[in-house]
Amino acid sequence: MELVAGATGSLGGRIVRELLGRGGRVRALARDRGSAASLEAAGAEVVLGNLKDPPSLRLACRGADIVISTASATRRTDDTPENVDAQGTINLVDAAREAGVRRFVYVSTLGATQDSPVPAFRAKAAAEAHLKQSGMDYVIVQPDAFMDVWFGMLIEGPIAAGHPVTLVGESRGRHSFIAEADLAKLVVAASLNAEVRNVTIALGGPEGITFRDAVTAYEDALGMPVDVRSVPPGSTIPGLPEMVSGIAAAFESYDSLVPMREVGATLGVPLTTARAFASRRVAEGLGRA
Ligand SMILES: NC(=O)c1ccc[n+]([C@@H]2O[C@H](COP(=O)([O-])OP(=O)(O)OC[C@H]3O[C@@H](n4cnc5c(N)ncnc54)[C@H](OP(=O)(O)O)[C@@H]3O)[C@@H](O)[C@H]2O)c1
Repeated sequence: MELVAGATGSLGGRIVRELLGRGGRVRALARDRGSAASLEAAGAEVVLGNLKDPPSLRLACRGADIVISTASATRRTDDTPENVDAQGTINLVDAAREAGVRRFVYVSTLGATQDSPVPAFRAKAAAEAHLKQSGMDYVIVQPDAFMDVWFGMLIEGPIAAGHPVTLVGESRGRHSFIAEADLAKLVVAASLNAEVRNVTIALGGPEGITFRDAVTAYEDALGMPVDVRSVPPGSTIPGLPEMVSGIAAAFESYDSLVPMREVGATLGVPLTTARAFASRRVAEGLGRA
C-alpha cells in the first residue's frame, strides 16, 4: 500500500489517481477530510495528519510499503518551507522508518542545494539529506518547472483575462518545463520500479524552451498573435505576487536543460511538448469553467 503526502495538492492528487488507475491500494494524507473528498470518492483511503504533528504521521504510515511525498508549503500561506518542506518532511521520513516502510519517494526540486538563496530549495535539500541517511530505499525526484503552474500564471491567466502577457527581460532562459500529468506518471513509475533505488533523478519535459517559445506555442494553438510586453528584472509582473515575479526573473539568469531521453524510455512515459500542452489547454478553454 502506498501513502501519498501532499495528496490534496496538484501533483499529489494526480499521483493518487495514477496509482489508483493501476489498481493499487492508496492512502491519502490530508489535513482535513473535506479537501480529500474527491480522492476518497475516487477510491483512496483518507488519513488525517499534518507534517508538523509526528504522532499523526506514525499512524498514517502504519501498514504502508511505500511513502510518496509531494507536500510543500511553497504555495500555502499558513506554513513555511522550514517547518513543512524541511522539518515536516524529516518528521515524515522518521515516522515512515519507525513504521517499517520499505521505500520513500520524495518530490524535491531541481536546484535544491543546502546553500541555495531560495529558502524552499534549501529546505528541500535538508529533507533530501535526511532521507538519504534514513536507511530506507529512497528515490529523490528533482523536477524542473511545471508547465501547468508557470504557463498557467504567466501566459494563460493574462490571455484569459484579455491582458498582455508580461515576460521578464529578453526571455532567453531555457528550461525543460514539464507537464504535471507526465511528472505524476514518472513518479509513479519510479516508485513502483524496484530497480530504481537510492538515486536522485532530475526530471523535465522533452525540450529546453524559453517563455517566449511557450507563448509562440499558445499563439499557434489559438491561431492568433498574443500581445507580449517585457519588464526589466526586478519589476513586478502585473497581477502576480512579488515572489512569483522574483522567480520569473531568476529563470532568466540561467538555463536548466534536463536530458530526458534515457529516463523517459526507462520509465516508459512519453513526454508532452509545450506545443501539445498549449493545444490541450486552449481546447479546454484555458482553465475557464
Ligand atoms: N511548481 C513548480 O514549478 C515546481 C517545480 C519543482 C518542484 N515543485 C515541487 O513539487 C511539489 C508538488 O507541488 P504541487 O504544485 O503539487 O504543490 P501544492 O499543490 O501546493 O500542494 C502542496 C501539498 O502539501 C500539503 N501540505 C502543506 N502543508 C502541509 C502540512 N503541514 N502537513 C501536511 N500536508 C501539507 C498541502 O495540503 P493542503 O491541501 O491541506 O494545503 C498539499 O496537499 C512541491 O514540493 C513543489 O515545491 C514544484
